[in-house]
Amino acid sequence: MIVLGIETSCDETAAAVCKSGKIISSVVSQQIIHRQYGGVVPELASREHEILLNRVINEAIIKANIRLENLNAIAVTQGPGLNGTLLTGICFAKGLGLGLGIPVVPINHLEGHIFANFIADPSLELPFICLLVSGGHTQLWHVKAIGEYKLLGETRDDAAGEAFDKGARILGLGYPGGPAIEKAAIGGNPNAIKFPRSLMGKNNLEFSFSGLKTSLLYFMDDFKETKTLSIKDIIASYQQAIIDVLIKKVITAMKINSVDKCVVAGGVAANHCLRNGLRSVLGDNKIMFPDLSYCTDNGAMISYLGEKKIQLKKYESLSFSSQPNLKLS
Ligand code: KG4
Ligand code: ZN
Repeated sequence: MIVLGIETSCDETAAAVCKSGKIISSVVSQQIIHRQYGGVVPELASREHEILLNRVINEAIIKANIRLENLNAIAVTQGPGLNGTLLTGICFAKGLGLGLGIPVVPINHLEGHIFANFIADPSLELPFICLLVSGGHTQLWHVKAIGEYKLLGETRDDAAGEAFDKGARILGLGYPGGPAIEKAAIGGNPNAIKFPRSLMGKNNLEFSFSGLKTSLLYFMDDFKETKTLSIKDIIASYQQAIIDVLIKKVITAMKINSVDKCVVAGGVAANHCLRNGLRSVLGDNKIMFPDLSYCTDNGAMISYLGEKKIQLKKYESLSFSSQPNLKLS
């Protein structure tokens, strides 16, 4: 079976082709127009998708060395995400699907992120704990089976990716903030400043990052670089405060639920400080990450999960529409 995946939930225009569980092409176009605004402008993102979709999908088809007529189905992100951007992908997918006479399968973006881990390791066994850390979500899930997800805890305010993005804005590092902070922190001392870690009670699985962001804002008001404290130290300490919380909550979730495996999903899973920290606490066998290229938004995870849904006969007809607040369970 050959499935085209289309992803337009935010500011990446992405398409990929999955053939019998293998990704045979993946194209991601990150919209650079938002950089000057320090965050995603929804209306501009929709317009960019309209411009880019045709080219990105064509490129994915050419790179896969197939023709449109070879496709058996199209999978497209239904939500969560920005309504306008979701609609651009869904309308494109439906038009193409109708034209080719093939099914169009709606995909939950969050479930797609979790399934990016199966692309890296198809033999990955359930159940596991999933730390889902993206620009809009910070959640811990007990993934018992495909479609059987229990929410263990989530953020009360900012998501982890948002903490990176807002922190980067305060530090003047640009957007997206995660990769910018990770790069700028290299060589800094992560223990130089003890930024606050919230909700660290024994079995607490909730998150809160807004206090950390405010604390950075106040710190930067008075900051002057000295011989003993550099801007790199501040950035590394800020990053470490986010990572420490994520690691602590993963360990707690695994303990409370007696699950010995954890997968990480979403854009923040690309962070090497998080990867190395979790690996050093849990060891290589108990922690899984997607390939770096499938951490941030991509079409591969959508096409891969689309194929699974078709095999399990778990999908709706063309009557579906966008669901900006779509939940996982
Ligand atoms: O999953 P994603 O691409 O989009 C959403 O579904 O939200 O995640 C984007 C988020 C952004 O907040 C970005 O700053 C963060 O992931 N991110 C990172 C890194 N790469 C992307 N955060 C920390 N370290 C990174 N290397
Ligand atoms: Zn995402």
